[in-house]
Amino acid sequence: MPGEVIQQSAQAILEFDNMGLSLIEISHRSKNFEAVMEETRSLVKEILGLKSNYEVLFLQGGATLGFYIVPLNLLQEGHKAAYANTGVWAAGAIKDAKLVGEIDVVSDSSDKNHSYIPPIELTGEYDYLHITSNNTIFGTQYQKFPKTNAPLVCDMSSDIFSKQFDANDFALIYAGAQKNMGPAGSTLYIVDTEFLGKTGRKLPNYLDLKNHIDKDSMANTPPVFSVYANMLTLRWIKANGGLEGMDRRNREKQEVFYNELDRNSLFHGHAVTQARSWMNPTFRLNDDSMAAEFDKMWKDAGISGITGHRSVGGYRASMYNALSVESVKVLTDVMNEFERIKG
Ligand SMILES: Cc1ncc(COP(=O)(O)O)c(C=O)c1O
Repeated sequence: MPGEVIQQSAQAILEFDNMGLSLIEISHRSKNFEAVMEETRSLVKEILGLKSNYEVLFLQGGATLGFYIVPLNLLQEGHKAAYANTGVWAAGAIKDAKLVGEIDVVSDSSDKNHSYIPPIELTGEYDYLHITSNNTIFGTQYQKFPKTNAPLVCDMSSDIFSKQFDANDFALIYAGAQKNMGPAGSTLYIVDTEFLGKTGRKLPNYLDLKNHIDKDSMANTPPVFSVYANMLTLRWIKANGGLEGMDRRNREKQEVFYNELDRNSLFHGHAVTQARSWMNPTFRLNDDSMAAEFDKMWKDAGISGITGHRSVGGYRASMYNALSVESVKVLTDVMNEFERIKG
C-alpha cells in the first residue's frame, strides 16, 4: 500500500473525521461512513470510466467467495458457463462453479505448469466466459483480453487498477482488495446490472448481488476499515494519473525487472515472454545450488518476501501498484551483482 495511505489509515484508527472516535468504532450507518462508502464506489466508477449500467460493491468473503457468487448470480439453470484454467485461483473458481451448474473448461495451461496463457475460441453458447486476468502464483497475465460471443467475467484480484483496459467490456469483475487497493477484508465487485436477475434462482441475502446493489453496498455491516483504506488508495491512484498513470508506473517497473532477467545469465523466467505478468514476475536460478548465496544477498539488501510459491519454486517478485521503481532496482542490482561475483 502507498505509505501515505498507511499513515492516513493509522490516523483514522486513532481518530476519524474529528468525531472524537476511531474509524473502527463509529457506526457504519453514520453520515461520515456513508460518505466514505459513496466516495469509494464512485472513485471506482470514475477511475475505470464505467458506464451507467455498472454498479460497484464492496463485500466480504474475498475473491474465494466470488468463485461461488459469480455462477450463483449469472449462470442460468440448464445453461453452461465457460472457464479458462490458467492456475490455482482459476482452478478454484472452476471447482466452485461446478457446484452451481454445468461448465466447460475451454482453455487450460496445466500441461506446462501454467507458464503460458492459452488462446480461447468458443464453439458453444455460454452464459459467460470466466478468466483470471493475472495468475498471481505462476506469474502470467493476459496481455489482451479474449473477445468471444460470451459475456466476459474476470477475477482481477491481483492486477486491478494496474494498467489501462476498458472495464466496460466486462459483464462482471471481482477482486480481493488486498493487493492493489488496501488491506484484506473487502472484495470489489463491478457488475453490469443488465446481466443480473436472470437465473430464477432464489439466493440467500448475502450471496445475492442484486440485494447488495439495492442497499448501496450496505446490506449488512461493511468492512469499514478496509473500505476506508481502499478509498484512500483510489484517491492516490487518481492523484497519480489514474489508470494511465498506473500503466506508466508498472510498465517501467516490469521493463526494469525483465530487462535484467533477460540479460542475466544466471536466471530464467517461469512464464513465456508473451504471457509475463507485470505484477508477479516468477523466476529461477539456472543452478539451484546457488540459492543459499543468492538468498543471503537479497536479504542483506533489505528485500523480503520474494520466495516463490511451492508449486513453481524459485522466486516471485510481486510489484503491486504501490511498489516503487527504486525498490525493483534494488532487486535487479542484487541480481546483477550476483552474476558479477559468480559469473
Ligand atoms: C487471482 C486471485 N484470485 C483469488 C485469490 C484469493 O483471494 P482471497 O484470498 O481474497 O479469497 C487470490 C489471492 O491471492 C488471487 O491472487
